[in-house]
Amino acid sequence: MENVNEIKDKIRQRFVKVAIDPTAPQRHPSGPASAKKLGYEPAEIDALPAVVTESFAGVGNPLGLHEVRPGETVVDIGCGAGVDSIIAARKVGPCGRVIGVDMTPEMVKKATDNAVAAGVANVEFHQGEADRLPAGDGTVDVVISNGVFNLCLDKPEVLAEVFRVLRSGGRLQMADILLGEAVTDEQVEKKGAWSD
Ligand SMILES: C[S@@+](CC[C@H](N)C(=O)[O-])C[C@H]1O[C@@H](n2cnc3c(N)ncnc32)[C@H](O)[C@@H]1O
Repeated sequence: MENVNEIKDKIRQRFVKVAIDPTAPQRHPSGPASAKKLGYEPAEIDALPAVVTESFAGVGNPLGLHEVRPGETVVDIGCGAGVDSIIAARKVGPCGRVIGVDMTPEMVKKATDNAVAAGVANVEFHQGEADRLPAGDGTVDVVISNGVFNLCLDKPEVLAEVFRVLRSGGRLQMADILLGEAVTDEQVEKKGAWSD
């Protein structure tokens, strides 16, 4: 049985590769073609520099679940290379703010460079974990997350942190992978863990 730190190290190693070598074969779909298949407007993806979308590793489109409005404050948990954060930054505009958080330093560096490449100034990226978000109690309008909860070892703890930072009436817009009841143990075994 692996301990928590070993599991986190494996997750980090996996996403370091997505950050620094996005064209190498990945175990799950990634990049701009994957984003378009998952429901992003093709024009929205094409409007971003290729360096921004090449390391996209999401599993859905959390921004498609509800409009993100000008002036809102958004936290992106497990922001990766920053695709959702940067799109959100364009939606919230100069009076809004986006805070991206990721535990993999290479992703944070890439997201920071990507914001410059995309010309958005109202987004900041922090290295950190989902259970300790860099935001005060009740200060956030929208928490977004794309493909990250499945990687979090203590999901109730992360959800509690989400509810701590959200203001009353705020929203959690998330996309993730779920284990359906019809999936057999053999299928799970064959597919392997997301963080292998
Ligand atoms: C599947 S990728 C998705 C990245 C990004 N949301 C996207 O759509 O491209 C998962 C990301 O979550 C980060 N991550 C995993 N567990 C985390 C945790 N507990 N806290 C913060 N980030 C985490 C990984 O480093 C990785 O960048």
